[in-house]
Amino acid sequence: MLSLISERLISFSVSATGNDRGKGKTREIMFSSATIQEIEEIRTKYPNARAALLPAIYVAQREFGWLSSEAFEAVADLLNVPKATVRGVATFYAMYKQKPMGRHLIQLCTNVSCMILGSERLVDLLRTKYGLEPGGISSDGRFSLVIMECIGACGTAPAMLVNDDFYENLTEKNLRDILEKYT
Ligand code: FES
Repeated sequence: MLSLISERLISFSVSATGNDRGKGKTREIMFSSATIQEIEEIRTKYPNARAALLPAIYVAQREFGWLSSEAFEAVADLLNVPKATVRGVATFYAMYKQKPMGRHLIQLCTNVSCMILGSERLVDLLRTKYGLEPGGISSDGRFSLVIMECIGACGTAPAMLVNDDFYENLTEKNLRDILEKYT
């Protein structure tokens, strides 16, 4: 069954006339064959397609950078589940992004421990040096910034994630050094 899905989806593309985005325009998106294969492998690890939605949507977000209406449709078609089901799952979790993002996602905690130990200064640095506002994208498209409530590192605050990389004991200096690694 999966090979049939694969054959159908290798050439899968979605054409959509804009409703919620891109009014009057037709846009196409397409999974790479590597991503189709990855999602098929994910599918085999779960008893049914709906159970595989969380990791499949994550892979789609990694492929497209964010989850447009067309990306929801692509996942729905790939797993043969209703688009509304995909959208319902994706919109429930903060980890899934429904608007364009920078190439690297900074998730910085500003809750109590991190705030006491200087996270507001880090937010100011991101604003002044990178033009990054909370919830925004840097002008060069390099970073997106999301403010988090707590990421479980209160004893080594302030802390953040950049993509899947975790950083703690942040200062203005080491924050600058860390971000230089992300181009
Ligand atoms: S308050 Fe920032 S990691 Fe817990």
